[in-house]
Amino acid sequence: MNVLILGSGGREHAFAWRMRSSKFLNNLFIAPGNAGTALLGVNVPISPTDFQALKLFCLENDVDMIVVGPEIPLVKGIYDFFRDDEDACHIAVIGPSQRGAQLEGSKDFAKEFMSRHNIPTAQYKTIKLGNIEEGNRFLESLQPPYVLKADGLAAGKGVLILNDINEAKRLLWEMLNGMFGESSNKVVIEEFLQGIECSVFVLTDGKSYKILPVAKDYKRIGESDTGLNTGGMGAVSPVLFADEAFMQKVEQEIVVPTVKGIEKENIDYKGFIFLGLINVGGEPKVIEYNVRMGDPETEAVLPLIKSDILDLFVSVFTETLDTKPLETDNRFAATVMMVSGGYPGDYEKGKPISGINEVKDSIVFHAGTKLENNSVVTAGGRVLAVTSYGKTMDEALENSYKNIGKISFENSYYRTDIGFDLKQ
Ligand code: AMP
Ligand code: GLY
Repeated sequence: MNVLILGSGGREHAFAWRMRSSKFLNNLFIAPGNAGTALLGVNVPISPTDFQALKLFCLENDVDMIVVGPEIPLVKGIYDFFRDDEDACHIAVIGPSQRGAQLEGSKDFAKEFMSRHNIPTAQYKTIKLGNIEEGNRFLESLQPPYVLKADGLAAGKGVLILNDINEAKRLLWEMLNGMFGESSNKVVIEEFLQGIECSVFVLTDGKSYKILPVAKDYKRIGESDTGLNTGGMGAVSPVLFADEAFMQKVEQEIVVPTVKGIEKENIDYKGFIFLGLINVGGEPKVIEYNVRMGDPETEAVLPLIKSDILDLFVSVFTETLDTKPLETDNRFAATVMMVSGGYPGDYEKGKPISGINEVKDSIVFHAGTKLENNSVVTAGGRVLAVTSYGKTMDEALENSYKNIGKISFENSYYRTDIGFDLKQ
């Protein structure tokens, strides 16, 4: 089969890497890709949201399947575009339809879906400018801290957590008046949930599902989860607190009603559901849905999948996922991100990277890199994701840190404490 992966980060490099071990793979394309994906397939300079150009490319190159990395093409309806196109409907798009993608594209849609299907989540109210007074009253009924979420996509920046009620009311007003553009025309106010978070990934054909190894990511730039939010500074998988009893609850109270809800509401969904969960005293609750894999979680989770991923994706498209076993590795995987100094604020690009070839027993996934005169240079904030296996989480982390020490570029930075809150 010929496969096109959309995206350009570490997640997409990990998809390309896993896909390369499929016995069904013939040609692999990545649009637009990075310097790492160029080693595994052909990078194609097309934007993941230029559906018309993607269609022409797919038809010219006999592409059989598109695997969508990021959420934006999904929220813009790439699945529907291909499904409804007479010439291109044979191409399998791995991802949900536009309506399914609303689970990530609209917090209000996601909360309503959860309340229709009795899925445990924080209490909430959705507010528009017209009922801001109701929003203020709802804030007064809650205990601090206060959680305000822009309804639409806001590049990971649309969630505010505030300790002071007056500040919360002021920012509710700001959000409703364009603080995040149209994304915050509606604001979801939520009860604050206290607990430890984890990411659960589910692959579904819309009827049956497979639960992938659980991961935890580290979003803050600074040690001990301090400082600004980033796209993610590292991840580990599996997560020890997500034990059998916890996962039983996750499956029965969250995964089953989510997949059944999708089926019952006739939502066309052939892809990943990413459950951002929080463990509140042993009870899992949904913080958010995403409709794609996480980054950097994918760089830790895919190395633990032993089943042929392309075979799984084909069964998703043909709605026969229930006939396929999911084989996983019983080791741990740990991913540490190397980023450009200054990130998530301003940083410089174009720094030559050395030492990647010295790495022996870790996998180096490229994120923000590109080839310049045949050498690899930095091209983004998050630059490389270094993943290792281990019999324990600590051993996996140790291997990643040992190998990250061999790689260098000017002004690089990484957190030295990934997994700190899971140590036993
Ligand atoms: P989201 O974009 O919905 O994932 O929110 C970003 C982050 O805000 C989450 O990863 C949580 O750490 C935090 N968060 C969101 N909603 C809540 C909540 N109801 N209670 C506590 N923390 C939350
Ligand atoms: N690592 C979290 C995300 O991909 O949204």
